[in-house]
Amino acid sequence: MLRVVVCVSGGGTNLQAILDAIDKKEITNTEIIAVISNNAGAKALTRAENHGICAICMSPKSFSDRAAFNRAFTEKMCELNPDLIVLAGFLVRIPEDMVKKFSNRIVNIHPSLIPSFCGVGYYGLKVHEKVLERGVKVTGATVHFVNEGMDEGPIIAQKAVYIEDDDTPEVLQKRVMEQAEWILLPKAIDDIANGRIEVVNDKVRKTEKSEIKVQR
Ligand code: GAR
Repeated sequence: MLRVVVCVSGGGTNLQAILDAIDKKEITNTEIIAVISNNAGAKALTRAENHGICAICMSPKSFSDRAAFNRAFTEKMCELNPDLIVLAGFLVRIPEDMVKKFSNRIVNIHPSLIPSFCGVGYYGLKVHEKVLERGVKVTGATVHFVNEGMDEGPIIAQKAVYIEDDDTPEVLQKRVMEQAEWILLPKAIDDIANGRIEVVNDKVRKTEKSEIKVQR
């Protein structure tokens, strides 16, 4: 059984997609052991509690400085000792020490086709604002392993989403979630839980049985 900790900052719709997929047995061999948020008001914490999952709030604001938060956050994670950490809309930079300790065991969902519209300053609705500002015609979402860089780790899966002429950032965000994020992230977790993914030379290889080999 893959023991997973999900980290969230806000609404938690990706967390909900994971919980629903576990309930429907679309994700197998997986147990969410805790949900951690940096934001006490995150709806995601309520979603976790409603599911009987341990919900933990750890905000950088309650620590004297970022280094103290990073230490406490990493210690908490080591205590929970998950097989996989899922960043499902978690807007806090993962401490370097945690990345090292959980190498190729942290995955992130990003609401664009990396390497476009990612890196510092690209998160949540801001990504979709920049996409519309630039006038690109296709965007999407990416699930990737987390390394020391920002949105730079090995890519597990991507799915394209078309932009419509009258899109607003909010409308586009919802379409990217519905058509890409809520599908890709559960499939990636299921693949990891069932040993269908490996990282070779910093690239993700999927086996024949992978659920996300072709995403259209
Ligand atoms: C999602 O769109 C996710 O891709 C994005 O935040 C949103 C969280 O929504 N993550 C990032 O921008 C990370 N760089 P949710 O809380 O409803 O799942």
